[in-house]
Amino acid sequence: MHLTPQDRLFVLTGAGVSAESGLATFRGSGGLWNGHRVEEVATPEAWQADPSFVWRFYSARRRNALAAQPNPAHLALARIEQHLTQNDPTCFYLCTQNVDDLHERAGSRRIHHMHGSLFESRCVRCDQPFPDRAFYETATLPTCRDCGSLIRPHIVWFGEIPLDMDDIYAELARATTLLVVGTSGSVYPAAGLVDIARKHHICTIYVGPEEPSNAASFNQIILGTAAQTLPAIFDLPSQ
Ligand code: APR
Repeated sequence: MHLTPQDRLFVLTGAGVSAESGLATFRGSGGLWNGHRVEEVATPEAWQADPSFVWRFYSARRRNALAAQPNPAHLALARIEQHLTQNDPTCFYLCTQNVDDLHERAGSRRIHHMHGSLFESRCVRCDQPFPDRAFYETATLPTCRDCGSLIRPHIVWFGEIPLDMDDIYAELARATTLLVVGTSGSVYPAAGLVDIARKHHICTIYVGPEEPSNAASFNQIILGTAAQTLPAIFDLPSQ
């Protein structure tokens, strides 16, 4: 595929883009944590019932993400951004459902974590996210220096609203191509972005080893892993 200087690319990534970095996807084999489905851990109800349990889950995810390295898919997206944004930095937008930082470590710049960030936390009362790489794996939980309330992961749990949806919709409306990578198409509102793109007559492409649940909404499905497919998906000048 060819990208022209007139193209504006909106990329949506899911857990599949980090699979080849060794981070487990949510659904399918390996998507369990100590025998629990993610839906049982990543909810406000789970937090209310047992915040230590939830923090152990996110501490384990912090450990795994810190040990992981960006793979060729992350690097390819950073290179596509570099190519497209030579004249206009707004020609590329990466919206990720992932909470790891592998896109940033690969060099992506214009990135939005719609489901929050693994390396940020926030006080349940003050609500201001701050950088946090600590592990909370004992019964003693972190509390806010200002108000004493519990500190929670800065993660959008099931039943909570993803971050900055208005910005996401505005970026999508200006795009010419939507490239979706490694997401099962089963979690909304992310899974609905392709339908909005189609209404705007935006070209929609999916990349992953199997068809997502919302496959019928895409113009094109490319079956393959992210690391195998993305480095050559667009014919960019070689460096
Ligand atoms: N390359 C590309 N895609 C892959 C790869 C790979 N190497 N390996 C697996 N996949 C695909 C799977 O085929 C699957 O469709 O990645 C997708 C992963 O789907 P999910 O586990 O459902 O992850 P995701 O869609 O990102 O989940 C969405 O759900 O649990 C919540 O908030 C969490 O952000 C997450 C959201």
